[in-house]
Amino acid sequence: MTRITKNTILPGFVLIFMVSAIGCQNSANTKKEVVQAPPASEVQQLALTPPMGWNSWNPFGKNVSEKVIRETADAMVSSGLKDAGFTYIVIDDYWQGKRDTVTGVLNFNPERFPSGIKALADYVHSKGLKFGIYSDAGTMTCGDQPGSFRYEEKDAKMFAGWGIDYLKYDYCYCNDYGSENNNYREAIARYKAMGDALKATGRPIVYSICEWGPRSPWLWGKEVGGHLWRISYDVGDKWDEPRNEHSQIGILTSIDAMSDLERFVVPGGWNDPDMLVIGLRNSGYIKGGGCTDVEYRTQMSMWCMFSAPLMIGCDLNHMSDETKTILLNKDIIAVDQDPLGKQAFRVMRKDGLEAWKKPLSGNRVAIAFLNRNSTTGTVTSGYEALELDPEIKYNVYDVWKHENVKQPEGVITAKLQPHECQVFVLSLN
Ligand code: GLA
Repeated sequence: MTRITKNTILPGFVLIFMVSAIGCQNSANTKKEVVQAPPASEVQQLALTPPMGWNSWNPFGKNVSEKVIRETADAMVSSGLKDAGFTYIVIDDYWQGKRDTVTGVLNFNPERFPSGIKALADYVHSKGLKFGIYSDAGTMTCGDQPGSFRYEEKDAKMFAGWGIDYLKYDYCYCNDYGSENNNYREAIARYKAMGDALKATGRPIVYSICEWGPRSPWLWGKEVGGHLWRISYDVGDKWDEPRNEHSQIGILTSIDAMSDLERFVVPGGWNDPDMLVIGLRNSGYIKGGGCTDVEYRTQMSMWCMFSAPLMIGCDLNHMSDETKTILLNKDIIAVDQDPLGKQAFRVMRKDGLEAWKKPLSGNRVAIAFLNRNSTTGTVTSGYEALELDPEIKYNVYDVWKHENVKQPEGVITAKLQPHECQVFVLSLN
């Protein structure tokens, strides 16, 4: 557990707790006693950089099994992804069996998980990886499996007993499902119930809120114990499709959904534009038509610019060389994992060409140029347009070429293929 130093950020909900605790104490006692902040060791500081891992949904959906999870854990290590920082192996929907009507215990599916989830968690841990699971804040999951509503404490205890390190918590079958009426009360209550139950287990469990965005989880996600919250509907294996409730959206749509949400991100509380579709090539469970390698690279680049969680969504045992090159690019991963934890914001948009800016630690900054068009385009941006000091001479490092690149003074320019994104890290000479 991390100790609080003056450099670590105290989460908002802890501050609220401290302020209200002090308020209550003062009104209850006339002899004012000073209430101490909880000791640093009691404050769980998880996911101080965006979580990185793999999730079963995109490639396997209903066909997830203990065999798949074991093979994925093996591949995570042998492919070098673990060394690159990918740590969590998360089983999404369809691990469940029936909930026992007498004891209320949620069983696992005995055909696809014959050895049980605890044994699987032990296996994943033996590889030096962490293990995640999925449930739902309603009576059933989005795949019609038993949900955790009214069983929050029971399920959280069982998950902790199994050694779970991460919970993705969905929002199907809740009373206000499908209504976008700006009444967030039900969602807040349901996510808080599980957030409290997870905390009460005493086990550090990363809590991933999957409400998809209609109830603005960036406003309350951290307060209910969340470490990341989905801001958009499911991203399919496709480049562009408008936001809607009934089908998957495209990579570009999710990028747009992230814009203007940068102020809600802090280390330990991340906007989640959904999992990576990189490497699926229309072969996975979710389909969508497939993307080009350029588009997959753009997803990696923009997710890293956003400080987004990086949850791989392809079959790790069937990755092409290009997929590996994208996922194992340590330079772009370093942009994602930068300890400052800032989300990029758009500084320029013209004729389908965009510039995004992300402040980095060490007085550095990342600039991404994105071409939304299906034709080649050239972006040339002066430092002032990029909100950079025109007096400074920066080193410009291209994170996909892995080298410093020469640029005209006071300007950054790049020629972009259709749907391409190029990322430059600027540092002082
Ligand atoms: C929802 C979520 C997906 C996935 C499925 C599982 O659609 O948004 O990410 O977890 O449910 O049923």
